[in-house]
Amino acid sequence: MGSFLEMRKIIKLFNNNMVLNNIDFCADKGKVNALVGENGAGKSTLMKILAGLYPPDSGEIFIDGKKVSINNPKQAQELGIAMIYQEMRLFPDLNIAENIFIRREPMKNSKLVRRIDWDVMYKKTQKYLDYFDLKINPHTQVNTLSIAQQKFVEIIRALSRNANIIIMDEPTSALTEKEIDVLFKVINNTKKLGVTIIYISHRLEEIKKIADRVTVIRDGKLIESCSIDEVDINQIVKAMVGKELEDRYPKLKVKIGREIFRVQSLGFGGRLTDINFTARKGEILGITGLSGSGRRTLARVLFGINGPYEGQIYLNGRVFRYMTPYIAKMNGLCYVTGIGTDEGLIPDVTVAENITITNLKRVSRMGFIDRNTEYDSSKDLIERLEIGESEREIIDNLSGGKQKKVIFAKWLFTNAKVLIIDEPTAGIDIGSKVDIYNIINELVLSGACVIMISSDLPEVIGMCDRIIVMFNGEIRKIFNREEASQEKILYFASGGKDTME
Ligand SMILES: Nc1ncnc2c1ncn2[C@@H]1O[C@H](COP(=O)(O)OP(=O)(O)OP(=O)(O)O)[C@@H](O)[C@H]1O
Ligand SMILES: [Mg+2]
Repeated sequence: MGSFLEMRKIIKLFNNNMVLNNIDFCADKGKVNALVGENGAGKSTLMKILAGLYPPDSGEIFIDGKKVSINNPKQAQELGIAMIYQEMRLFPDLNIAENIFIRREPMKNSKLVRRIDWDVMYKKTQKYLDYFDLKINPHTQVNTLSIAQQKFVEIIRALSRNANIIIMDEPTSALTEKEIDVLFKVINNTKKLGVTIIYISHRLEEIKKIADRVTVIRDGKLIESCSIDEVDINQIVKAMVGKELEDRYPKLKVKIGREIFRVQSLGFGGRLTDINFTARKGEILGITGLSGSGRRTLARVLFGINGPYEGQIYLNGRVFRYMTPYIAKMNGLCYVTGIGTDEGLIPDVTVAENITITNLKRVSRMGFIDRNTEYDSSKDLIERLEIGESEREIIDNLSGGKQKKVIFAKWLFTNAKVLIIDEPTAGIDIGSKVDIYNIINELVLSGACVIMISSDLPEVIGMCDRIIVMFNGEIRKIFNREEASQEKILYFASGGKDTME
């Protein structure tokens, strides 16, 4: 007892379903307090209660020994609580400074009118950006920023509101190693200001590194809460899933077949140069690299989102000199992305509708959508992916990780032959990651080829047959599975070259 923040005996029900079951949660001042648990364990819900988004059905909250009542986000804000959500909460059409100061713009008090003091606003924003060593103009419109940069803007917004409790829900799920390093520096500096940080993440290695304290919850109940030095990763996993986890990377030996995908002398407006590689039936091909290496640009060019490109793309032996998402899909190439969790989902409709949207033909009869077929085929995928929700549930009510699995299900529904999967397990808990890997296994077993873009090096090494390492828009190295190690990959990813050349 005696923690800066205490949540006691919190109960929360959603439609008679007890999501938080008499849970206690404490956080220490000036520390990083990690909160971990499987997808759907109740982490975001617990923190949304603290942030005033949901009222609890019962329970009490104490800050600095004083009982507080938090009934809405405004009250939470007045108590110094800020939450950085799993889903983005910035205004895409506003610029950085406007986002940071929205609804609390500094005012110029002249005698007659109150006007926004733009000068002060931009200067203050610039100061924050400098403090975090971010070389971005405060006038930049937010929707042109990378996901990492958007996260930093959110953190700056919280700090500028003098928050003394900052909740970060999966801040790193869309970030690369380099960006995470920057974020950790930001977190450590924030900690020094006496700010209490609550940090939700599925990346346990990361938690070992940044957290001072860890709390494990399962099925809405507190399992364990202790200092980070007292536990190792295996103990945390065991507390999370309630059992020992077998193989973290269930890589299968799949027969590699004929070539179905080839990229030749591909270039894109100076951002990609001379990219050459092939991919075969049954193969899992990894593409990794640090932020700015061009791996995501490559995926977007291959799928026709960005273009035009120089060079050729061959799909099933057919050459394509330009690509659009439509042509890609028609030829069995798809791009699965779940960055920022809610990307690619349609809000306010059911899970089933979200899954079948990519292939409405399959669930239609004479041009009309047949709801029963839609529900049945979705149900099957929901079971295979162990999403554990009804196909009729509204997508918004699913936890972040489960939404991610739905994005996956959606693309599996198309029977694609070449799947480019962008960060397949970001934001997914360690137990469900294995489910995703097994789905990838199933895909390649059925003759597809999976191109997996990932910054999670153990995952790339654990699951891929070959690994492409990119740097500065170029391929620096292609490893066979046996040759790869984290050190070797990082060497090439940070600009290293083969000494043989
Ligand atoms: N608004 C809502 N309405 C109905 N059910 C909800 C709602 N929000 C969350 N749930 C359910 O509550 C449970 C806990 O969800 P929560 O989002 O807190 O999980 P989480 O631990 O954050 O998981 P993840 O790691 O996947 O983000 C899930 O079963 C989810 O489906
Ligand atoms: Mg969550």
